[in-house]
Amino acid sequence: MNPHPQLAILGFGTMGQAISAGLVEASGYPAGRIRVATRHPQAARSRAEALGLAPGPDPAAAVRAAEVVLLCVKPRELKGLLAGLTGTGALDHRPLLVSIAAGVSLDFLAGQVPGGTPLVRAMPNTPCAIRRGMTVLSPGTGVTPTQMALARSLFEPLGRVLELDEKHMDAVTGLSASGPAFQFVILEALAEGGVQCGLPRAVALELAAQVAAGLG
Ligand SMILES: NC(=O)c1ccc[n+]([C@@H]2O[C@H](COP(=O)([O-])OP(=O)(O)OC[C@H]3O[C@@H](n4cnc5c(N)ncnc54)[C@H](OP(=O)(O)O)[C@@H]3O)[C@@H](O)[C@H]2O)c1
Repeated sequence: MNPHPQLAILGFGTMGQAISAGLVEASGYPAGRIRVATRHPQAARSRAEALGLAPGPDPAAAVRAAEVVLLCVKPRELKGLLAGLTGTGALDHRPLLVSIAAGVSLDFLAGQVPGGTPLVRAMPNTPCAIRRGMTVLSPGTGVTPTQMALARSLFEPLGRVLELDEKHMDAVTGLSASGPAFQFVILEALAEGGVQCGLPRAVALELAAQVAAGLG
């Protein structure tokens, strides 16, 4: 198995960028093996180029060249995106599809793509960008151990990886995927307490941030 499969990342927002940064900057994934695609490539250009990635062709062209497709669009965009890919035959070679969309089931995904397309549901988090991520994976029906190993190989360089039954995905989404946002609220509240007690805001933020870093 090629340790760096040809990868298409569809969606290059918060998570598409966090995963790309973790793969390319922190893990040495060859930028040439990754294509990112969005609806508006011009908007993604500078962020992609900073990682050495070319904001690619349209999603269908990126998928046709891919062994693994990482779906990093908002849940509401998935149905239309997958309909377009299926309709243009871009999935006919049955690449491994890995969806990180919150709340979107494997059953729903299976209904949008050609029969026999291997599917994995993943729930990563933003610290993947600095290799401190937590990702949970759930295999779809019929996914082979080799395909699961392929999915794991994308996320293991970005932090910790667990495999769990899909029934746990909503809890995982609330805990480890949303956890960084909750931690920032706590951190800001801590700093605000310091400001209320007279500390300059920059100092209060530095103290609170260092407390959080020390717990890591
Ligand atoms: N944010 C988190 O902490 C987090 C954690 C775990 C999982 N997730 C999941 O990750 C997914 C992405 O979330 P996000 O926060 O990264 O969203 P985001 O910042 O809004 O990024 C979405 C990206 O998708 C692109 N896009 C939208 N429609 C598209 C289409 N039809 N084809 C190709 N690209 C398309 C957008 O660019 P254009 O508008 O230019 O197309 C944008 O680059 C969601 O499903 C979410 O549930 C998020």
